[in-house]
Amino acid sequence: MKTPPRLLNLLEEGFIDGIEATLKTGKEAEVYLVRVQGELCCAKVYKDAQHRSFRQAAIYQEGRRVRDSRRARAMNKHSRYGRHEQEEVWHSAEWMTLQALAQVGVRVPRPRAFFEGVLLLDLVAGEDGGPAPRLHDVGMLSPEVAHILHAELLREVVRMLCAGYVHADLSEYNILLDASGPVIIDFPQAVDAAANAHAQALLQRDVARLGEFFGRFAPDLRERPYGEEIWALYQSGHLHPESELTGHVAIEHRHIDLRGVMREIRSALAEEAARQRALRERELDE
Ligand SMILES: Nc1ncnc2c1ncn2[C@@H]1O[C@H](COP(=O)(O)OP(=O)(O)OP(=O)(O)O)[C@@H](O)[C@H]1O
Ligand SMILES: [Mg+2]
Repeated sequence: MKTPPRLLNLLEEGFIDGIEATLKTGKEAEVYLVRVQGELCCAKVYKDAQHRSFRQAAIYQEGRRVRDSRRARAMNKHSRYGRHEQEEVWHSAEWMTLQALAQVGVRVPRPRAFFEGVLLLDLVAGEDGGPAPRLHDVGMLSPEVAHILHAELLREVVRMLCAGYVHADLSEYNILLDASGPVIIDFPQAVDAAANAHAQALLQRDVARLGEFFGRFAPDLRERPYGEEIWALYQSGHLHPESELTGHVAIEHRHIDLRGVMREIRSALAEEAARQRALRERELDE
């Protein structure tokens, strides 16, 4: 594996002890499994603007506060220095958001450090100690489990909004599942709920995507107006982290057996792994 230059700096400075593997080359960043003081962590190395895709679009940037006025002026000028400053702000946005959300108890990977375009995060670990699977990878869910995970995630969306944030790219691809339940990742595009004019639409899209995903397993979750409900409570100043949402089920009154849910998911994952193994073996035989 070729060591990316940004990680090389961190290795040389002794911030990280070694690179174990490439986890993912995504649209916006490359994610590596690294060792830091004997522990496995994630290092998210952001791509430069010209290698990135849609998410730096103006709609996500609107309302972001740039505290340093010299930097703000430079960014408005679109000079090379201005573009550089804009990059720095985009890169540090995820770090700041994760810190704020971890502080209010949203389940996100704990941010450890941000240094020269590299974000160091706790590893969200799966069964084997390696990276946890994404919700997308889990396969079939029972309607019961779909309901419980959906309610858990709506609760997290509400917690984020109470802290002033909308994720704005929430989907089964940006949610990992560890032994205690869902963990939300990938925040560079998160928007300021109060200052961004698109916040309502983005929140409703996030919530609708959760409904679509879990609606595949529990059709009654499709097209429920949870997004509208959450936004109405927020706008009227009545939203708080424990707000009861109605939809058609009173999710607050459900007994949430998260351990049972995770057992079911683990067995679904094991089944999927066995299926994949069998497929590979069959391919080798042919
Ligand atoms: N803290 C973490 N623990 C475990 N795995 C992680 C962690 N952070 C990221 N990953 C893995 O790396 C992948 C990419 O991370 P992320 O979504 O933050 O970057 P991205 O560049 O936006 O990728 P994508 O384009 O796929 O959305 C995730 O789907 C996940 O599998
Ligand atoms: Mg992602």
